[in-house]
Amino acid sequence: MNIERKEERFDYDLERLGIRIRDADQLKVREDVFDEVTLLALYKLVHKKWISEIGGSISTGKEANVFYGIRDGAGIAIKIYRIRTANFNTMSTYIVGDRRFSNVRKNRKDLIFAWTKKEYSNLARARDAGIPVPEPLVWDRNILIMSFVGKDERPYPHLRNAEISDPETVYECIIGYIDTLYHMAELVHADLSEFNILYGDKPYLIDMGQSVTLDHPRALQFLMRDIKNINRFFAHRCKVQSDIGVFHAVTGLDTREP
Ligand SMILES: Nc1ncnc2c1ncn2[C@@H]1O[C@H](COP(=O)(O)OP(=O)(O)O)[C@@H](O)[C@H]1O
Ligand SMILES: [Mg+2]
Repeated sequence: MNIERKEERFDYDLERLGIRIRDADQLKVREDVFDEVTLLALYKLVHKKWISEIGGSISTGKEANVFYGIRDGAGIAIKIYRIRTANFNTMSTYIVGDRRFSNVRKNRKDLIFAWTKKEYSNLARARDAGIPVPEPLVWDRNILIMSFVGKDERPYPHLRNAEISDPETVYECIIGYIDTLYHMAELVHADLSEFNILYGDKPYLIDMGQSVTLDHPRALQFLMRDIKNINRFFAHRCKVQSDIGVFHAVTGLDTREP
């Protein structure tokens, strides 16, 4: 099929489904993200009134694209895991070993659907524990819809680019999140860094697809990595505790390196 024909078919599919997508005009994005399975899931979500409008693209990551959206006048974030181009092998590491997903079948599509559901339930657990994270609203196949963390259609900046007037308070706050996540939600974020924290009125943790329960064989290793990332980021901004010190305070385990 030549490019022109492909484009025509895509427009037809979207129109037929009654979905208008602002900014999704690059053929590459369209092809990688909006395959047939995704379009059907989107259609269902629009039909069930979880989405009133799909807006511009916020982010193109390694596994997923995030779009701004509107539901009943309020902002939402629509995260779409790419079925064709997500990294299947990396994802497997975080899902194999998690008891909640022990019977996931081993093909690409099922893994990605399970992953989407995993992010939904991780966000829900974190939120129940009182940690500021986007509120997960619904998931369907490879699409997760959550509340929008930002202002005027713009996400809050990543911690990396944020102006932080009192770094020590923010540091203590984030260490507190790690501790609460561990004890109340029984989760380790497992990809915590200045890129997965948005900073607005306070720090928000995002991106929890890879987060694991404490019984995951590598949970402590992931925890140590999270702690090291946060310490590294704050080390030249304020006084930080030692990596081992934080690890010990959180887990109560007296060990050198997990
Ligand atoms: N709920 C949200 N509200 C506002 N912006 C968001 C939200 N979720 C994600 N984003 C934006 O999209 C980017 C990518 O989302 P993320 O969940 O980190 O996916 P990835 O796995 O691609 O890193 C984030 O860095 C953030 O800028
Ligand atoms: Mg991220």
